[in-house]
Amino acid sequence: MKEVLSVKNLGKYFVKGEFSRQKETIRAVDDVSFSVKKGQTLVLAGESGSGKTTIARLILRAIEPDSGEIVFDGIKIDNSTTILKKMRTECQMIYQDPYASIDPRMKILDAVREPLDIHNIGRPNERKELVFSALSDVKLDPQEIALKYPHMLSGGQRQRVAIARSIATKPKLVIADEPVSMLDVSVRLGILELIKELQDKHDISFLYITHDLATAKYVGHEIAILYLGKIVEAGPIDEVLLQPRHPYTQALLDSISEPSPDNLHKEKRIRINEPLKIDTYKGCRFRARCPYAIEKCKQEPTLEEVDNHRYVACFVEIN
Ligand SMILES: Nc1ncnc2c1ncn2[C@@H]1O[C@H](COP(=O)(O)OP(=O)(O)OP(=O)(O)O)[C@@H](O)[C@H]1O
Ligand SMILES: [Mg+2]
Repeated sequence: MKEVLSVKNLGKYFVKGEFSRQKETIRAVDDVSFSVKKGQTLVLAGESGSGKTTIARLILRAIEPDSGEIVFDGIKIDNSTTILKKMRTECQMIYQDPYASIDPRMKILDAVREPLDIHNIGRPNERKELVFSALSDVKLDPQEIALKYPHMLSGGQRQRVAIARSIATKPKLVIADEPVSMLDVSVRLGILELIKELQDKHDISFLYITHDLATAKYVGHEIAILYLGKIVEAGPIDEVLLQPRHPYTQALLDSISEPSPDNLHKEKRIRINEPLKIDTYKGCRFRARCPYAIEKCKQEPTLEEVDNHRYVACFVEIN
């Protein structure tokens, strides 16, 4: 199956407190590789600070990578104007906060039209038509909504407008960074369903970023679990979530599972430890919190294929 995006050995370090005595290098993204298949959704999951948004910003070239390469639609991304132009039209982003991602001074028609104007897509007199079609795609009534301002809409409607804006340029890839986490629980499912529907209709690939495995399962085909800038486990989403092989994936899953009679019988409920004070970047990064840690974990495990398309970076057999 063709890949729309492939990320190889991507790295980004930040220096925290550059001018203070406690200077610290944060390996926000460290030797990360993954790919997004055409027409599919790859979920990037991990806790706050695991590097999810940094990866999105690196792909969109909002920041420069320190190492590694990104190949989009068969072309290696660099800083040349033509490549960045292709990237900015064919790869779009949906943000977490629908209140911040749409300019409050713009009418919906203009907000959705803006990327078409910027990237010169369609003839100027056809653009209103394209906006209306994008609004219909996200299940909003164009006639009713086009001349309204964002403050006249609900959070869910605003996120639909933000999605319309992101698909108006007919992108090949959409990066959605926690697109439902700020929305009311009652409208989340509708947005997730919309994402799936748009994928089927327009063959859009998604990189879906979240800390929430329950929503991830709903939209994803494959998943990569990030822990402090490293992928610790990856594979087909149903398999990874049904039978997690990395202690961190297990812990993440346990944190969302409801107390049910099934779970009460599950002995291997893992509780992650209080982090030990060790150098996070030496050996396995999860070692400081892992209940299964052994001496060998002081070395760094590599992400290896342990089964058909299942990748795990762990020395311990936990299943
Ligand atoms: N511009 C920056 N300067 C310094 N450190 C940064 C910068 N951007 C991100 N970081 C650090 O990099 C790490 C990863 O941050 P990132 O925002 O990518 O995490 P995230 O997984 O998106 O978290 P969240 O779920 O909270 O959005 C964090 O430790 C963060 O503090
Ligand atoms: Mg983030």
